[in-house]
Amino acid sequence: MRKVKIANTDWEVSEIALGVMRMNVLSSQEAKSVIEAAIENGIDYFDHADIYGGGESEQVFGSAFTELSIPRDSVFLQSKTGIIPGKMYDFSKKHIIESVDGSLKRLKTDYLDALLLHRPDTLVEPEEVAEAFEQLEEQGKVRSFGVSNHNPMQIELLKKYVRQPLLINQLQMSVTHHPSINAGFNVNRTNQEAIVREGSILEYCRVNDITIQPWSPFQVGNEKEGILFDHPDFIGLNEVLAKLAEKYKVEREAIAIAWLLRHPAKMQPIIGSMNPKRIAITCRASDIKLSREEWYEVYRAGGFQLP
Ligand SMILES: NC(=O)c1ccc[n+]([C@@H]2O[C@H](COP(=O)([O-])OP(=O)(O)OC[C@H]3O[C@@H](n4cnc5c(N)ncnc54)[C@H](OP(=O)(O)O)[C@@H]3O)[C@@H](O)[C@H]2O)c1
Repeated sequence: MRKVKIANTDWEVSEIALGVMRMNVLSSQEAKSVIEAAIENGIDYFDHADIYGGGESEQVFGSAFTELSIPRDSVFLQSKTGIIPGKMYDFSKKHIIESVDGSLKRLKTDYLDALLLHRPDTLVEPEEVAEAFEQLEEQGKVRSFGVSNHNPMQIELLKKYVRQPLLINQLQMSVTHHPSINAGFNVNRTNQEAIVREGSILEYCRVNDITIQPWSPFQVGNEKEGILFDHPDFIGLNEVLAKLAEKYKVEREAIAIAWLLRHPAKMQPIIGSMNPKRIAITCRASDIKLSREEWYEVYRAGGFQLP
């Protein structure tokens, strides 16, 4: 597994991370097998959120991880805060601090390596976020901070008050869902893909050394549309993925992740499989590097035209 450097830290972490949003439904034994498969295949970075499975995902992971007796400092544990599901977003100091305390308890750990603000709260008072981050850092509960689903100006607003560097921004991205890449290709045009929905977030993160963590890298778009493999709307794409998989002697999952890794933004995709075999075949993405021609072939096969 190749490593990716997180700017503004001395961290060299696995370039593929495992997201454990779906771990809540696993038995303790299944969860242990998933964690072991991730580690055996070189993953040392795990993404959580206080809300995944209503907290159950962190709980199941925390117990399994402890039972496996894996040294805490051999992995990076990241969690997220700020969503009250179905009701509101809450970036208040009180909520951020209580949320972290809950995550630490469920994960059975003393500290998080990274804490991300999960989805923008328009009622954010960045002074409060700054106070919460100061307190959490001072108490040794959180080592570093970042955001998720934020656009450039939202990050700038936080940066005006928050002292710590914002290291990470999680964005939904897959071979079929990448509005920030499309917007970059379609500058000065009037088609749908030209719409800058996220304020040039891809370029902003590159300029500011913020690591992008693509989430849901196998989903077509929104979750109702399902997984892109064997999807009837993406037959051509699946043929190209299969052709490249054969060439590199891997599975299509590895090609879909290799496509994200080939981008020079040095992204760290977060895969969400809870299947040890699928985790192993997906991690093979880190063994290969697509050519420029292949990257563009996959892009076009996803149904997008170059201007
Ligand atoms: N920041 C945010 O707002 C945000 C939002 C959503 C998610 N996330 C993070 O991103 C992580 C990944 O999200 P995700 O779980 O949606 O990622 P994903 O890797 O795109 O999807 C994983 C799901 O797809 C299934 N799958 C994968 N390949 C398949 C195949 N070939 N055939 C059938 N099913 C297949 C997996 O099933 P198996 O388990 O059977 O492999 C699993 O249920 C989450 O765990 C979370 O940490 C962040």
